[in-house]
Amino acid sequence: MMSLLQKPFSMFLQVLFFLLLICIPSFFAFPPKSSATSFGAAKYVAAEGNKEAEALLKWKASLDDKHSQSVLSSWVGSSPCKWLGITCDNSGSVADFSLPNFGLRGTLHGFNFSSFPNLLTLNLWKNSLYGTIPSHISNLTKITNLDLSDNHFTGNIPLEIGLLTSLNFLYLDKNNLTGLIPASIGTLKRLSILYLWWNKLSGSIPSSIGNMTMLTRLDLSTNNLSASVPREIGQLESLVGLSLSFNNLNGSLPPEVNNLTHLTVLQLFSNNFTGHLPRDLCLGGLLVNFSAGYNHFSGPIPRSLRNCTGLFRFRLDWNQLTGNISEDFGLYPNLNYVDLSHNDLYGELTWKWGGFHNLASLKLSNNNITGEIPSELGKGTGLQMIDLSSNLLKGTIPKELGQLKALFNLALHNNHLFGVLPVEIQMLSQLQSLNLASNNLGGSIPKQVGECSNLLQLNLSHNKFIGSIPSEIGFLHFLGNLDLSGNLLAGEIPSQIGQLKQLETMNLSHNKLSGLIPNDFVDLVSLTAVDISYNELEGPIPKIKGFIEAPFEAFMNNSGLCGNASGLKPCTLLTSRRKSNKIVILILFPLLGSLLLLLIMVGCLYFHHRTSRERISCLGERQSPHSFVVWGHEEEILHETIIQATNNFNFNNCIGRGGYGIVYRAMLPTGQVVAVKKLHPSREGELMNLRTFRNEIRMLIDIRHRNIVKLYGFCSIIEHSFLVYEFIERGSLKMNLSSEEQAMDLDWNRRLNVVKGVANGLSYLHHDCSPPIIHRDISSSNVLLDLEYEAHVSDFGTARLLMPDSTNWTSFAGTFGYTAPGTYLISFLIYISRTILPVL
Ligand SMILES: *[C@@H]1O[C@H](CO)[C@@H](O)[C@H](O)[C@H]1NC(C)=O
Ligand SMILES: *[C@@H]1O[C@H](CO)[C@@H](O)[C@H](O)[C@H]1NC(C)=O
Ligand SMILES: *[C@@H]1O[C@H](CO)[C@@H](O)[C@H](O)[C@H]1NC(C)=O
Ligand SMILES: *[C@@H]1O[C@H](CO)[C@@H](O)[C@H](O)[C@H]1NC(C)=O
Ligand SMILES: *[C@@H]1O[C@H](CO)[C@@H](O)[C@H](O)[C@H]1NC(C)=O
Ligand SMILES: *[C@@H]1O[C@H](CO)[C@@H](O)[C@H](O)[C@H]1NC(C)=O
Ligand SMILES: *[C@@H]1O[C@H](CO)[C@@H](O)[C@H](O)[C@H]1NC(C)=O
Ligand SMILES: *[C@@H]1O[C@H](CO)[C@@H](O)[C@H](O)[C@H]1NC(C)=O
Ligand SMILES: *[C@@H]1O[C@H](CO)[C@@H](O)[C@H](O)[C@H]1NC(C)=O
Ligand SMILES: *[C@@H]1O[C@H](CO)[C@@H](O)[C@H](O)[C@H]1NC(C)=O
Ligand SMILES: *[C@@H]1O[C@H](CO)[C@@H](O)[C@H](O)[C@H]1NC(C)=O
Ligand SMILES: *[C@@H]1O[C@H](CO)[C@@H](O)[C@H](O)[C@H]1NC(C)=O
Repeated sequence: MMSLLQKPFSMFLQVLFFLLLICIPSFFAFPPKSSATSFGAAKYVAAEGNKEAEALLKWKASLDDKHSQSVLSSWVGSSPCKWLGITCDNSGSVADFSLPNFGLRGTLHGFNFSSFPNLLTLNLWKNSLYGTIPSHISNLTKITNLDLSDNHFTGNIPLEIGLLTSLNFLYLDKNNLTGLIPASIGTLKRLSILYLWWNKLSGSIPSSIGNMTMLTRLDLSTNNLSASVPREIGQLESLVGLSLSFNNLNGSLPPEVNNLTHLTVLQLFSNNFTGHLPRDLCLGGLLVNFSAGYNHFSGPIPRSLRNCTGLFRFRLDWNQLTGNISEDFGLYPNLNYVDLSHNDLYGELTWKWGGFHNLASLKLSNNNITGEIPSELGKGTGLQMIDLSSNLLKGTIPKELGQLKALFNLALHNNHLFGVLPVEIQMLSQLQSLNLASNNLGGSIPKQVGECSNLLQLNLSHNKFIGSIPSEIGFLHFLGNLDLSGNLLAGEIPSQIGQLKQLETMNLSHNKLSGLIPNDFVDLVSLTAVDISYNELEGPIPKIKGFIEAPFEAFMNNSGLCGNASGLKPCTLLTSRRKSNKIVILILFPLLGSLLLLLIMVGCLYFHHRTSRERISCLGERQSPHSFVVWGHEEEILHETIIQATNNFNFNNCIGRGGYGIVYRAMLPTGQVVAVKKLHPSREGELMNLRTFRNEIRMLIDIRHRNIVKLYGFCSIIEHSFLVYEFIERGSLKMNLSSEEQAMDLDWNRRLNVVKGVANGLSYLHHDCSPPIIHRDISSSNVLLDLEYEAHVSDFGTARLLMPDSTNWTSFAGTFGYTAPGTYLISFLIYISRTILPVL
């Protein structure tokens, strides 16, 4: 819950949270419900008992379903005193009828209330009773405790309720009652608790309510009550808890509310109240929870609150309160939550913070608070959330805030703070949201920010930060929103930001960043919104959704970005890595152009030749809306052909198995042999939804290199999915090395050649494919050898394919230690030297 509060929609959640707090009856604890004891049958009055039994059985019969009948299976015979939920008094008459939370379904219309002259308690809390509350309920002349809460009752509260003058407790909350609160309710002079919350009652609060002078708890919240609060409410001097939250009450509170000096809880949240808050509210010094947020209260915070040392929760947010907060506050050792945001308060934060041992949330945003953030705030060690945003605070951020070990949300944006971001920030290991936007902070962004490993949101925008972006930001693995826009940041974007797999929005605009966008950005799979405009960036944009689908405004005013996004120039084959290279390209281009033309011509001839040789298609008759195929443009393989060629994926055709599926050898009718990798079924569901998957496959199909296993196509129908690859005769390097005989055949020259081949293949994937493909799982089982012992890298890009744009994908697809992209070739060579060379 807390972690959610600092999300952008925290306001909404807070309201929801508050609603929950109010509606779950933790607000007013249920007092023990009275019950009468049974003295058995000794004084059993047969006639009365029979009438009661008869009435109960009749009601049982009126209930709707089998469940209700079976709950009441003990209800047989004519002596109800031992029946489930029934307790009798000394005379053997039913005194207590309590069946709370039994799932009973039905109405009260079949219940003959006049048969129970001695009933004191009727408790049907939390069942599924519906229909109206019958006016005959008034026949329960002795009843003291009536609980029909948490059912589905509709209609009005019957006027006759006023006849139940013995009532102490009346609970009708959590139903669907409509209409007015009957004025007759005022005759319930002995009533101590009246709960009508969470219904749809409308109209005004009847002034007769003032006649219920024994009331200690009155909860009318979450209804549709309107007009102003009657002055008679001031007569309820025993009130301990009063909740009127979530209604449409208006006008100012009558001054008589000041007479309610025993209140510990006062909830006025979300109404349309105007005028001043009651001046003497905490004169009794008993107030614990006070909430008047989301109204139109004006004037000062009442003076009496200064001495209100018992305060625990205190919310006056979203009003028009004025006054100097330096003067209006005292010391609140119990205070846990204070929200005064969105008012017109001024003054300085001169409170005695060391005395706030219990304070978890401090919210004073959107006021006119001046002065500096006191370093003593660091003594409020229980603080979890600080929001001082949108005030007139100046000065620096005190390093003492680093002592707030529990802090998970720090919002200081939109003030006039200057100085640096203290390195003590690294001590805030719980921090999830840090917003320092729109201040005058300067210096460089301390690399210690990378230690706040739980950060979900980091906003340092619109300050005067200089230097480069610290690469340590790449350590913030949970980061979802990063905004560094509107600063003076220079240098290249650190490639480590590409490690932020959960990053959804990234704004680096309006800085002086230069160079290329790091290749690693292709891993920002969660990215949905990006803005890198107004920088000095150049080169291709990453081929990922977040970039490709971004509007031109996200890229404008840079030094030469290119790529497949709206408004950008497409990247030429040889994208300039540095400006100086441009001249070279001008010279080279015509030369290469003609070479390319030649290649294309040769290529066309070659493919034409192949096409005529094999026409295979996956577009079989088994196509359905759930199936799709992707195939190299020049050849099509019939789905059925593959099934036949593998003998319906017969075990005998199996030539290996990997993490993602089983590999089969398949000889096509044309004589061509291919490898078919049938994917594990668990993966298929994930693939089906993804449009991008098709494009990814196309991209892989387009890859042609001597040292890379050719992917011919992909086919997916409901039953299964498979990839079709070029068949490489000698199998994997691992296999070749594990057999002594084969390992002997793999002599020095051949081994060196294998290393070269793999290096060539990887270099191609890395530097010549756009976007670069990172293998992620290079191992000896993914290097295949053909008859000439030439190496072919397989399974490239599969990791990416099989774990597409999901926010929860992990950084490593396969074998640890061989995947660091920057130092790729080096680590690969180290790997080779460890695994192949020792065998030599
Ligand atoms: C309800 O009970 C009373 C007394 O037991 C009886 O006189 C009356 O007829 C009953 N009413 C109905 C509708 O059964
Ligand atoms: C029961 O209540 C109804 C409605 O209030 C009333 O008309 C009727 O006279 C009452 N019956 C008895 C026996 O009190
Ligand atoms: C109240 O009525 C609405 C429909 O009018 C229904 O969705 C809701 O579940 C009802 N609530 C209760 C507590 O019966
Ligand atoms: C409150 O009770 C008194 C006497 O019991 C009565 O005169 C008065 O009308 C009642 N007030 C309201 C508003 O019902
Ligand atoms: C609330 O009451 C007003 C009248 O005061 C009525 O117009 C409105 O429809 C009611 N809303 C609900 C949800 O009952
Ligand atoms: C309060 O609301 C009622 C309607 O519900 C309206 O008639 C009245 O004028 C309002 N009073 C104030 C002070 O806004
Ligand atoms: C209640 O408040 C009113 C006005 O604030 C005051 O005149 C009256 O004396 C108070 N009543 C009691 C019983 O204190
Ligand atoms: C609340 O009161 C203001 C006047 O103070 C009025 O303009 C507004 O319409 C009212 N809103 C509701 C929901 O009654
Ligand atoms: C005050 O509110 C807190 C949190 O909502 C709650 O735990 C506590 O019981 C309330 N205190 C009283 C006196 O109702
Ligand atoms: C606060 O309490 C002190 C002593 O308990 C008292 O002297 C002072 O008048 C009170 N101030 C207010 C505003 O109630
Ligand atoms: C708060 O500050 C703003 C702008 O500085 C000013 O317009 C407004 O009058 C101030 N409000 C108060 C209550 O001081
Ligand atoms: C607020 O109150 C403090 C303490 O009384 C005082 O020093 C300060 O000048 C006041 N601020 C304003 C803006 O009036």
